[in-house]
Amino acid sequence: MIFRKSGREVRWANELGELSWTYRAGRVVQVASTTGIFEGLGRRAATAAEVARHRGLDAAMVEKMLYPLAAMGLVRRAGGRRWRLTRKAAATMLPGAPCYQGNMLAHGGQVWPFWSDLEEAVRGRRGGWRHTSEVEPGPPARSHRDFILAMHDMAMAGRAAELADRVDLGGRRTLMDIGGGPGSYAIALCERYPGLAATVFDLPETIKIAREVIARLRMVGRVGTVAGDWDKDEFGENVDAVLLSNIMHGPTSGAEMKLRKACRALAPGGLLIVQDFLMSAAKTGPLIPALFNLMVGAFSLPEMVERIAAAGFARVRVRPMPRHVGTAVITAVKEST
Ligand SMILES: C[S@@+](CC[C@H](N)C(=O)[O-])C[C@H]1O[C@@H](n2cnc3c(N)ncnc32)[C@H](O)[C@@H]1O
Repeated sequence: MIFRKSGREVRWANELGELSWTYRAGRVVQVASTTGIFEGLGRRAATAAEVARHRGLDAAMVEKMLYPLAAMGLVRRAGGRRWRLTRKAAATMLPGAPCYQGNMLAHGGQVWPFWSDLEEAVRGRRGGWRHTSEVEPGPPARSHRDFILAMHDMAMAGRAAELADRVDLGGRRTLMDIGGGPGSYAIALCERYPGLAATVFDLPETIKIAREVIARLRMVGRVGTVAGDWDKDEFGENVDAVLLSNIMHGPTSGAEMKLRKACRALAPGGLLIVQDFLMSAAKTGPLIPALFNLMVGAFSLPEMVERIAAAGFARVRVRPMPRHVGTAVITAVKEST
């Protein structure tokens, strides 16, 4: 028989077929977000033509975008030719929603060229793609703003609360959040520990965005900021805790230097907190850190633990974050000697 209709091979072939469609689905959600289709349906049910008119879009394409969005459970028909958002979309796709993911989707769009150029990169002819964290002087570029606020979206989607569950800052008074981006984790830790004051240390372009977030979340006075460059500046003195979150992405990230500076900044007995995408020892997963490693870089968990110990820290403890694939929190203590 030439054509089969069942069996393991048929199931595997269909799984791969479905997998090959997932990037198209992701792209539809990204573009629906960045073109304002979700916002266009935010207040009330509307037709594709109404959304298109308000947002300056092509009505026929908006209509066609709505079908896969409905298949993904993000919009639904609301009678006649009208559509409305589902509760899932209203909670995640509208600016100001508690778990808004629009910045994360916009950032996904910014890094799209890397994934289109992947074949060129694998063939050794990398295209002109540049990582968005390579910030430029002057006002924050749109891509940089998307990138920094994408970090905030991820923190709001459970990660910040879970980080706060996994560290004990009882009795600690000061925290330095190095490369703290929008300041989300510093804010979460200060919210959890009323006696704690935090400082977000980051490049000036990012600090502008962190200040906006801190003010919006009414944490001015508890969370301060300092503009600095981890390549040039020290991380403070006699600090009770240092957070290095998502800034040690593999061998080219200067991880050893950051750990040494964190150790110097901490008071004896001070706590180091590391949070990052980490692969398994064999680097066979989880999938998201393994994908992240292709584009940016990621350590395996043992590689990260080894570096932390080599920088002079003791009592290294790993606290996986099971709900957030591939993210782990590691704590360690600077020995009192
Ligand atoms: C991936 S983000 C992590 C943000 C935040 N820690 C988090 O976990 O959401 C990396 C951060 O490092 C900052 N950064 C990049 N180069 C830096 C440098 N030379 N000195 C200080 N911060 C830097 C970026 O501005 C950005 O905020």
